[in-house]
Amino acid sequence: MIDSKGHALVTLVAPPPIPRAAGSLPFLGHAIQLVRDNLGFIAALRTTYGPLVEITLQPGTRTLVVQDPGLIRTMLTDLGPSLDKGRFFEKMGQLLGDSVVTAAGQVHVRKRRQLQPAFARERIARYVDTMRAETETAVEGWTVGQRLDVREAMVGLSLDMLAKTVFSGSLDDTTFRRLRADLSVVMNGVGARVMLPDWVERLPLPVNRRFTAARDAVRATIDGAVTDLQASGHDTGDMLSLLLRTTDEETGRPLSGHEISSEILTLAVAGTETTASVLSWVLYELARDPRIEARVLAELDEVLGDRPVTFDDLGRLPCLGRVIEETLRLHHTGWLVTRRTVTETRLGPWTVPAGTELAYCQHALHRDPVLFPDPLVFDPDRWLEGSGPRPTQAFLPFGAGKHKCIGDRFALTELVTAIATIVRRVRFELSPGQTVRPVAAATVRPRTLLMTVRPRAAAPPAAG
Ligand code: HEM
Repeated sequence: MIDSKGHALVTLVAPPPIPRAAGSLPFLGHAIQLVRDNLGFIAALRTTYGPLVEITLQPGTRTLVVQDPGLIRTMLTDLGPSLDKGRFFEKMGQLLGDSVVTAAGQVHVRKRRQLQPAFARERIARYVDTMRAETETAVEGWTVGQRLDVREAMVGLSLDMLAKTVFSGSLDDTTFRRLRADLSVVMNGVGARVMLPDWVERLPLPVNRRFTAARDAVRATIDGAVTDLQASGHDTGDMLSLLLRTTDEETGRPLSGHEISSEILTLAVAGTETTASVLSWVLYELARDPRIEARVLAELDEVLGDRPVTFDDLGRLPCLGRVIEETLRLHHTGWLVTRRTVTETRLGPWTVPAGTELAYCQHALHRDPVLFPDPLVFDPDRWLEGSGPRPTQAFLPFGAGKHKCIGDRFALTELVTAIATIVRRVRFELSPGQTVRPVAAATVRPRTLLMTVRPRAAAPPAAG
């Protein structure tokens, strides 16, 4: 309410009560709905309830899903420094160890500062050649006419791009291949464990034993590489070598092997599935719309000619940039990002008690018809300058505030480098009438994405 001089008056009217989503069961909360169709469940919350709605992830704990874009921003930015990271990240910490992803408050500030040099612009410029070489190797492994599981291929490629930048000089080939296989088991396991009540992972099931064995093996491999590097004193120029030379600014001590392996494990989870899912969706959308694909190819031809993509090209490919941006909108990989109140906290007109979980879903937010007209249409041109107002406040591909993705530039570099390299070599073909459904595990990804590999013929003339 505003007074005659334009000053906001404190409203004494109590905010409406926060509704509770229907269907919660004792001991399980909403686990059944989440396991059956978590995306559908969260999307339905958006259409059924208002700015805040309560769900039960972990019995005994209140989780409020924040649906209003303004409140989401407030949670991430203004309230960011005073909130804990909440269940999703706490679970990651229990599984993988403490890291920049799981830390809050001052510990987070320190960890983030330690890791930042690995993601500096000039470092990423150096990684591009590795990313391109890994993509070329992947493409060479595909045969024309092959029905390729594109999602699997993109998970492999993302893992190779990240692992090679982290370990390029520090591991021999056999160890690298073993590490890659173990990391893959860890990544798959984390997504499921975050969604389920804690007691499930204590069951003596083969899947639980496999996860623990793979995680311990990854740790042992990294610890071994750290010990070898420390003993040799070499700077191998990779990310591991950089982390080894990083010191804790409070104590002046170098990071321990355990700290380094926790950071790397978490980076592997935060930075592989995400990139792999976005790569898969970009390739899917290009296969679906040959006109958009033709425009991307025409731009690549014009800017690159016959040479491969380099770091300097990244800002010179606006059409590909819009395709990636639109993919990050329509197929965002994040389905539940959490925080937790440490003290009684004001969120809009509501007062939320300490210990409340807050969560938001980027996937649902980016598909809100009020914010993005025709939200289910893949239209890269909605990001063209002058194509109307863009709800930038509600577009959060890499989050916002102090926990904004540290790997955003790294990820965009991987995406442009990989797509520019792949689409000039091969074309992917969907079967007639093939539908590809999203599923939310660690990220929102295609459930399966089988496409046929075709040779890239001369590009058809660009439309539009
Ligand atoms: C397209 C790919 C990616 C997407 C969509 C993405 C998205 C995000 C988002 C939304 C957050 C914020 C989460 C929050 O609010 O708590 C985040 C955080 C983070 N991401 Fe990414 N990410 C991607 C790739 C990467 C890569 C490649 C890396 C590293 C190699 C990475 C490392 C991290 C880390 C370490 C954080 C935690 C930052 C902090 O809390 O200070 N991400 N990411």
